[in-house]
Amino acid sequence: MSLLENKKIVLGITGGIAAYKCADLTRRLREQGAIVKVVMTKGAQAFITPLTMQAVSGNPVMDDLLDPAAEAAMGHIELAKWADTILIAPATANFMASLSQGLAGDLLSTICLATSAPIAICPAMNQQMWAAPATQRNLATLLADGHAIFGPGTGEQACGDIGAGRMLEPLEIISQLQRVFTQPLLNGKKITITAGPTQEAIDPVRYLSNHSSGKMGFAIAKAAINLGAKVTLIAGPVSLATPVNCQRIDVKSAEQMLAATQQACLDSDIFIACAAVADYAPETVAENKIKKSNETMAIALKRNPDILATIAGQQDKPFCVGFAAETQDVEHYAKDKLSRKNLDMIAANNVAISGQGFASDNNALSVFWKNGQQDLTLADKETLAYQLLELIEQNYSPK
Ligand code: PMT
Repeated sequence: MSLLENKKIVLGITGGIAAYKCADLTRRLREQGAIVKVVMTKGAQAFITPLTMQAVSGNPVMDDLLDPAAEAAMGHIELAKWADTILIAPATANFMASLSQGLAGDLLSTICLATSAPIAICPAMNQQMWAAPATQRNLATLLADGHAIFGPGTGEQACGDIGAGRMLEPLEIISQLQRVFTQPLLNGKKITITAGPTQEAIDPVRYLSNHSSGKMGFAIAKAAINLGAKVTLIAGPVSLATPVNCQRIDVKSAEQMLAATQQACLDSDIFIACAAVADYAPETVAENKIKKSNETMAIALKRNPDILATIAGQQDKPFCVGFAAETQDVEHYAKDKLSRKNLDMIAANNVAISGQGFASDNNALSVFWKNGQQDLTLADKETLAYQLLELIEQNYSPK
């Protein structure tokens, strides 16, 4: 039986080109056994007709807050109470702004304010509009209010731009919607995650480091929290906001990251090592700024501790997931690290391909474990984080 069987869904359609996908989305929701009632904004009706949505949903379409027939029975309150969930697809930048402000200027936003049901939002807009600081601020507010955000996907857009902002395909939306009706995947699990680079001091003003931005590790932290986990995020020097409900510990060097990780892993179920830890650090740190002298100079380096191997080598170790940043022979090196470091799973990325890996918003991962592997194709790091956590949950066994 589908998780959506007999679930009462208000499908809110707002005015974006992706509205044309809503007929298919409704058909597929009904195939899963869901009961769908459609509410459309005025803008949505420029892209798909209420008649079409009435035909595919099998229910009258509502579009007017001041509809005398519906108002006699307080239509918006009834619908708000009737729904098991409200799915907004597509959600325009304007609708997200209005919802984040708690405005109630039309039937759909009024229902959203009047409901106690979970609200899931499928953003769809031009990539520049999605990236705009105002939209990102509204997104953060909607997430903090506890709303689920599905997507957006990345790719070619109706306007010809390429980037993040596409509405997810109906089947992807349905698969994410099923999560709303399940116990969160990682409910109660304690997860420690390392993210970002480390900085290894040469003198008081210089250091050795790398290009890690922390985006991948922070995306995993955020997704894990949304899936019910209690997360400790040990972050190297990055300029990213702390995910809501996350315990964050800031460190600089590999030694500091090791100490914080060992402490956090004492009672962790899962450890995910996403940080790009410097393999070497200067043997000595000069007390004062090193002055220019010769044409060349050499700095003696010493091996840093391997944080992941240290945790995975413990007797009472958590489920250990490593990352492998490679530029060639990705599978070979990843599998070698999987067995050499005694890991339960490893997610490998090819950091030589532009548009993914270090500092990019997107990535692609090849995930390996003892008896299996799966490729997670190019997607934004948040989507990948959910996919990776699903694989971890499927393979997890308690220590
Ligand atoms: O931060 P972003 O800009 O979003 O980029 C993401 C990423 C490319 C940094 C990330 O996806 C990634 O690949 N992280 C691991 C980078 C890395 O250091 O890979 P590695 O192959 O050198 O190390 C293998 C594993 O051992 C990693 O899990 C690493 O965290 C761990 N390690 C390595 C060295 C060390 N001294 N201690 C460790 O724990």
